[in-house]
Amino acid sequence: MKIAFIGGGTMGEAMVKCILTRKVAEPQDIVVSDVSAWRREWLNKEYRVSTLADNAKVIEGADLIVLAVKPQDLSQAMEEIKNLSPKQVALSIVAGASLLSLCQGLNHRSVIRAMPNMPAQIGQSMTVWTATGGVGQEQKQMAQRLLSSLGEEIYVAEERYLDMATALSGSGPAYVFLFIEAFIDAGVYIGLPRSISQKLVTQTILGSVHTLQETGKHPAELRNMVTSPGGTTAEALLQLEKGNLRSSILEAIAAAYEKAKRLSISFSKGES
Ligand SMILES: NC(=O)c1ccc[n+]([C@@H]2O[C@H](COP(=O)([O-])OP(=O)(O)OC[C@H]3O[C@@H](n4cnc5c(N)ncnc54)[C@H](OP(=O)(O)O)[C@@H]3O)[C@@H](O)[C@H]2O)c1
Repeated sequence: MKIAFIGGGTMGEAMVKCILTRKVAEPQDIVVSDVSAWRREWLNKEYRVSTLADNAKVIEGADLIVLAVKPQDLSQAMEEIKNLSPKQVALSIVAGASLLSLCQGLNHRSVIRAMPNMPAQIGQSMTVWTATGGVGQEQKQMAQRLLSSLGEEIYVAEERYLDMATALSGSGPAYVFLFIEAFIDAGVYIGLPRSISQKLVTQTILGSVHTLQETGKHPAELRNMVTSPGGTTAEALLQLEKGNLRSSILEAIAAAYEKAKRLSISFSKGES
């Protein structure tokens, strides 16, 4: 599979790294274009992939074209690669860019929209993706191979799930890091050295996630197993309920979803 990247920044690099590590493609099958000369030099030196400054050239002979630029740079990038050949499929990871705006911007009908997340940097992404009706079965399999090299992937038939995924898993690492930060600070507040607090919190979160995955139990059932009547955990949970932790999380993600929908609409109207 020949893959072209438009944009070799944080996400473009993470994808190149995963594709090579999981042997989805070899360095000679990957070409990356980026406006920054230092990014091109870095990617070429670090991963042995070809790099170019010219977007129109980079797509020549590619089966899959990955759009990995910031939303504000998408229109120009699409203008430069307009009129792909019918056999080529474009895969965008640009937040808020709808299939409609991508098809219009590229003047192309085989388009995939994916929402990976930041742990793609270590091959632990949660990626949600969908495709237009113009994407054939073989092209979907190709995209799935690429996206599964980033971590977990899930295909959805309905595009509206992509805006939901943007709010939940796309932005999700930020919520988790904020929670972890506060958790560690709490350990420091009650007197633990920061390094010990960080180790305790990190392993507690890792262990809890693995327990959830391995037992397949509902989180509430697992929480009940830790909560002795009248004990310390119950005391802490009371404070978290008083602080409206649940409704804060629900409201935060609902707000992120509304924002994602507004972004998609403004993209479709060509306002971004
Ligand atoms: N970061 C995340 O966690 C995450 C998660 C999911 C989806 N995404 C999406 O992934 C996309 C890329 O994000 P990122 O964090 O990788 O951004 P980034 O680090 O800024 O990477 C984009 C790269 O593209 C270059 N570029 C700009 N215009 C270009 C053009 N016309 N042709 C070729 N290259 C161009 C940029 O160069 P300059 O810096 O010199 O402009 C930069 O090196 C975004 O649309 C974002 O919504 C990101």
